[in-house]
Order: sequence, then C-alpha cells, then structure tokens
Amino acid sequence: MYSVMSYGHMAADGVRMDAYARAIARAVTPGSVVVDLGAGTGILSLLAAKAGARKVYAVDTNPAVLLLRELAAENDLGDRIEVHDKSSLELTLPEKADVIVSDLRGSTPLHEEHFALIRDARERLLRPGGVLVPAQDRLMVAMVESSKLTRDLDLAVAGFTRRGLSARAARTSMANTVFADCSSELSASHILSTSARWATLDYATVEPGVVEGGAELSIQRGGLANALAVWFDTTVHDGLGYSTGPGHSSVYTRTLLPLLEPLEVAADERVHVTVRAHSRGDRWAWETTLVDRDGTTKARQRQATFLGMPTSPDALLRAATTFTPARNALGDRVARILAAMDGSRAVAEIADLVSADTLLARDALLDEVRDAVSRYGR
Ligand SMILES: C[S@@+](CC[C@H](N)C(=O)[O-])C[C@H]1O[C@@H](n2cnc3c(N)ncnc32)[C@H](O)[C@@H]1O
Repeated sequence: MYSVMSYGHMAADGVRMDAYARAIARAVTPGSVVVDLGAGTGILSLLAAKAGARKVYAVDTNPAVLLLRELAAENDLGDRIEVHDKSSLELTLPEKADVIVSDLRGSTPLHEEHFALIRDARERLLRPGGVLVPAQDRLMVAMVESSKLTRDLDLAVAGFTRRGLSARAARTSMANTVFADCSSELSASHILSTSARWATLDYATVEPGVVEGGAELSIQRGGLANALAVWFDTTVHDGLGYSTGPGHSSVYTRTLLPLLEPLEVAADERVHVTVRAHSRGDRWAWETTLVDRDGTTKARQRQATFLGMPTSPDALLRAATTFTPARNALGDRVARILAAMDGSRAVAEIADLVSADTLLARDALLDEVRDAVSRYGR
C-alpha cells in the first residue's frame, strides 16, 4: 500500500504531471463530472476541480484518500470533491462521469487489476462518449546492454562460484525472472537497437487477459546484449503524452527481460522479439531471435517467468481447474468466522465463538477475524 509520501513523489514527477495537468485542463470543462479512479491523495481530483469540474468523485482503497477531504478544503475545492475510501468495483454513483482520470499503472500498464478496474469503470461509471484519461499506452521494447543487471546476476551466484561450486540452475532460473530498473540505471546509451512497439493498449476497449505482440529491432551498435528493456509511451489525451523509456526520468521504472545468455551483437543485425504477458504483470514469456546480416539465425532464446521459480508437481496439480480441493484447518476456521459474520455479532464475539475450536492465541484469532472483516465484511 502506498504511503502519503509516495503519492507526493508521484505528484512531483514533472513529466507525468505536466501531461496529466494539460490533459485535464483540456478534457474537463466547466460543469463536467469527473471520476478519479485510484485517486491516492488526489492530485488529479484537485486539478479536475480547479479546471472547473462541477463534481469530482475520488475513489481509492487506500485510506490515504481520506486526506483529500482536507486537501480539497485547504484549496477551497471541498464542496466539489466527494471522497470514497473503497474499491471502485463497489462504487455506485448518482450520475455518469464525463471524464475518468486514472493512473493505475505500475512500472508498466500491465499491473495487478488495472485493466479490470478500467473496464468496470468504463462500463458502469462513464457516460457514452465520455473521455478516458489516459487514452492509450504503447508497450515498447529494445535490446540493451545493462552492466547493472550483469553485476546483480553475477553477485547472486558469487557465493557459489567463489567456493568453486557451479550455480547454473540458479542462474538459469534468474534469467527467467523479470527485473525492474529500480535505480534508473538504464539510460539511452545502454540501448543497442532501435526500439519498437509490441502492443497497443486502447483504454476504450482494453480487457483483462493476455497481451502479446512482436517487434523487429535493428542493432544500431555492437555490444554485449543481455536484456530486452520494456517500457511504455502514453497518450493521456488528445496528443498529450510522455515516454517512460530509458533516459526519461520518471516514477515509472523500466522492466528488464534478461537474455538467457548475453549475446554479442553487431550493427545492422536484426532481432525478432515476441513478448506475451498477463495484464496483471505477474506472468511473462519472451522469445528473442538474433539474425545476422546474411539472414542466418545466430541465436534463439525462449524464456518465461514460469521457469523463474521451480514448481512442484503437487503445486501444478492443485492449480489445475480439475483439482477437487477440500478445506484445511485454517479454511475451516475462516468458514466459521464468515458464517458468524451475519450482522449480529461484534468482532470480539465472533472470536469468542470460534476460539473453542482452536489453540490459536487470542490476539492472532482477533487478527484473523479483522482480516476477514476487512476482506469480506460490510
Ligand atoms: C499509482 S496510484 C495513482 C495515484 C494518483 N491518482 C496519481 O496519479 O498520482 C494508483 C492508485 O490506485 C489505487 N487502487 C488500486 N486498486 C484500486 C481499486 N480497486 N479501487 C480504487 N483504487 C484502487 C491504489 O491504492 C493507488 O492509490
């Protein structure tokens, strides 16, 4: 869950905020109804109200959104901003919005329930012909030479290799893992190839699920390529946008898809890339084919996050849709807690009711009840 300070850092990202501020000034007209989806501490709500919105509905699961009431009051905008500290999936409104503003992305737009939340808000909360800000993101890819990634991977096996042990299995596993360029080490000088778009996300039609695409890259200078860098370029509204690519400093980090083995590349060689990812951003697969100037395939590497962490046959079986599960002891207890949450008992009474059947300490049991209340209670 983001802290109030991290919302401050998002609001301080000049490139992002300039585009959003200009988009809001253009899309919101006096009298507009606006939904700020995932408002945080509400920078986009405040800008929409300042642009003349008649009403702004700000919604966020993070209680930090409650601070927006005070922020709106101190900016004399309190009468026009209505704050809801709940999931947007549970938000019902008395009127449809003319504009929905959001930034539910992580380092890429492929982030948790982003697409599901946009689809739900678009279908339930936006008037026909209403405006979505952002409008479109384009997923980009380029081949890079990241010395930081090499150092990180080397360090992660150094404990084995220094003692004369091989760690190939662990190294292969790590190469099937997606990394974030957290320290923003990646700059334009690390790019070895042209960049290209591998997928387009139009928020007017985007659906949760698999996003996939391919791109043809041309090597621009020789080097030792060790990853594909993925980022996004966005159109927030009406030609206004920004890039989060290498060399563009922003709150978004680049995503690195490592190569299984670094590849020596030379200018004018070509790289064919295919990327497949779930819109939640938790599962990725990527294939990289390097073709030399004569058209001969020099290398082909197929990778997937599925191979990044060993999976036991038992775990695979349990994940199958044909698996017939039974409840364990915790499941039984949660079922009893949920059954006791019938609107007639206090939290302590529910814990009392369940405590007879468990050796769990009172505090731990109360935490379990509170957790069930926050997830499934009303
Ligand atoms: C990246 S922050 C954006 C904050 C702010 N709108 C901005 O642009 O600076 C995304 C926000 O979406 C919120 N969020 C995630 N899932 C949500 C949901 N189901 N309903 C409402 N908000 C949600 C998160 O808590 C987080 O505050």
